[in-house]
Amino acid sequence: MNDAAPTNEFRQLVFSGVQPTGNLHLGNYLGALQKFVALQDTHDCIYCVVDLHSLTATLMHDDLMDQTRAIAAAYLACGLDPKKNIIFNQSRVPQHAELAWIFNCVARIGWMNRMTQFKDKAGKDRENASLGLLAYPSLMAADILVYRATHVPVGEDQKQHLELTRDIAQKFNNDFSERIAACGYGVEMEVGEERVNGFFPLTEPLIEGSATRVMSLRDGTKKMSKSDPSDLSRINLTDDADAIARKIRKAKTDPEPLPGELEGLTGRAEAENLVGIYAALAEMSREKVIAEFGGRQFSDFKPALAELAVEKLAPIASEMRRIAADPSYVDSVLRDGGERAGALAEETMKKVHDIVGLLAN
Ligand code: TYM
Repeated sequence: MNDAAPTNEFRQLVFSGVQPTGNLHLGNYLGALQKFVALQDTHDCIYCVVDLHSLTATLMHDDLMDQTRAIAAAYLACGLDPKKNIIFNQSRVPQHAELAWIFNCVARIGWMNRMTQFKDKAGKDRENASLGLLAYPSLMAADILVYRATHVPVGEDQKQHLELTRDIAQKFNNDFSERIAACGYGVEMEVGEERVNGFFPLTEPLIEGSATRVMSLRDGTKKMSKSDPSDLSRINLTDDADAIARKIRKAKTDPEPLPGELEGLTGRAEAENLVGIYAALAEMSREKVIAEFGGRQFSDFKPALAELAVEKLAPIASEMRRIAADPSYVDSVLRDGGERAGALAEETMKKVHDIVGLLAN
């Protein structure tokens, strides 16, 4: 990590995380992992496997340790360098949970009740949802802010949680402004037109590109997700070339050819989704995809998409298998990352103790 930035501004630091629940899919890859890999060339980055988060909906998992290793193996298989970045699992660094507790006391219950992900996951019987599920965004804010990270690459579905992260940071900065100043821990930052002083940065979400919300291959109005009962709805990162090609061949489409202009995709959710996936995999704009395939039938476009998807994804699947076959290597990466992350988190928490008034020395 370099410390080159001036001390009165936040050093640019990227943080993101993935839950170890179920197979990773194309949405996770395009919305998150592909961006993680690109950012490692330009930023200091911390990538976490958020195992504590996976307890919020289901407490008991048969194979949480293996799932955690599998996500770490996916990070490595996609090309993340464990020396250059910090790669670790969340529960190794207890400061995440400690800061989450403080944020539970900063955030308001009303804020949590408004989270669409909580409403979706809790369903009708909210009284019976775990307290952890309600407080989930507080832990997510702590994941990011325990490193005072400034940039967070995620898919569109995490946007509301990141807005809440900013609200928590802002309320902490306001509530403790005098203590922050008295301790000399304030950092200057721009908020809108103003320059203000605070301890936690107002984190920027990085939600960019053509595939920030990859939709189900069976229903263009539903998000591609691990929990969809139909395996045909998603491409898993573990799928082999045949499975990838078959799922694209079977993807739902409409009878029209692809439009000649981008605007022609409006109201054609499935076509729009496949064009977005092509653009993101090829790392080109959607305009360019339409310029190349506009007017062509899906019977032409799908084989091209399948070929591209196999070319990009099949090597990741085989690399994941290779890395996962050596769990002691994966564990050593997570252990090393955990030590480096822990040292940074400890530094932040010492200051938080001073600011909040928790006697620690
Ligand atoms: P999770 O584990 O559900 O998903 C991991 C990442 O994949 C993105 N994603 C998608 N992107 C595009 N299209 C989709 N269909 C799609 N499905 C998932 C997610 O947006 C995410 O970026 N709460 C987070 C994990 C988390 C976290 C954090 C993220 C915990 N702490 C701190 C960033 C920073 C989650 O459940 O992601």
